[in-house]
Amino acid sequence: MSARRGHRARPGADDPADQVGGDQVARGAAASSAAPPVPTVIRKVWDAPTRLFHWAIVMLVFTSWLTQYEGWMGWHFYSGYALLTLLLFRISWGFLGSDTARFGRFLRGPRHALDHLRRLARREPDTETGHNPAGGWMVVVLMALLAFQVGTGLCANDQADTYGPFADALGQGLSDRLTDLHALGFTLIEIAVALHVLAIAVYGLVKRHNLVRPMITGHKRLPPEVPAPRLVSPWRAAALFAAAALLVAFVIGRYGST
Ligand code: HEM
Ligand code: HEM
Repeated sequence: MSARRGHRARPGADDPADQVGGDQVARGAAASSAAPPVPTVIRKVWDAPTRLFHWAIVMLVFTSWLTQYEGWMGWHFYSGYALLTLLLFRISWGFLGSDTARFGRFLRGPRHALDHLRRLARREPDTETGHNPAGGWMVVVLMALLAFQVGTGLCANDQADTYGPFADALGQGLSDRLTDLHALGFTLIEIAVALHVLAIAVYGLVKRHNLVRPMITGHKRLPPEVPAPRLVSPWRAAALFAAAALLVAFVIGRYGST
């Protein structure tokens, strides 16, 4: 995807579907019913790789749960390897990807996060192109928990016939302890995901910010003065994803025992 630079909308443009430099201008969308209509532009804020990453991990967390629940442990492992590949991709995308995907852009100090939370009850136009300062830290927590889950899974065993690829090398005692942590990790993921979805619902209900639609379509209504983020070519994402997949296949194939 080529970079799309920020454009200013003509304030007060009459036609809601007016095109200004590729960004659609709409009126009133960012305003509450009491406030006067505020012009907004529709900007692309989430690139396709970040959106695909998100909905793929949602499916893989569900698949990982379902496969262990049904005892399909071979598929449980594959689901975990896919999740590991996606996490490695997303970490690299956090340094080399589009503006809104970069950790350096959305991880701001705790003071910013607290300031943001203090304003949670205020109904005001959404001006965030990417994760807000509080949400950014939640994203890190979610990714860290998923990494912990995959890491402990690789070393887990069921004391019968299923051993993670690194369980043998660690010995039964340590592998058992990591299996307990693997079970605990899933409980923590359930709690974090519940908070994540609750937070998104609160933004929708209290602030009237629809965060889900941009994560699906990539587009968001923003005030015209908010600059458009720089989006990086998806080919770079494809190359990073391929490198992550090769790395996972190599490490599991070379050092794993299954
Ligand atoms: C297993 C369940 C889920 C996990 C592990 C998860 C994890 C994540 C992660 C890691 C991100 C950051 C994405 C990135 O920057 O690459 C994120 C963002 C987001 N997720 Fe989820 N998610 C889950 C379920 C959901 C569900 C069910 C919804 C819809 C209700 C949702 C809506 C969103 C939205 C809207 C964002 C962007 C928030 C923003 O604008 O800052 N997620 N999620
Ligand atoms: C490559 C990655 C993974 C491997 C090798 C792996 C391996 C295992 C093994 C061997 C068990 C059996 C433990 C037992 O029966 O006590 C297990 C259980 C389980 N795994 Fe994974 N796992 C991986 C990733 C994941 C992921 C990503 C999730 C979820 C996000 C997950 C969720 C679970 C759950 C909920 C259990 C049942 C724990 C319990 O209550 O006993 N696993 N896994």
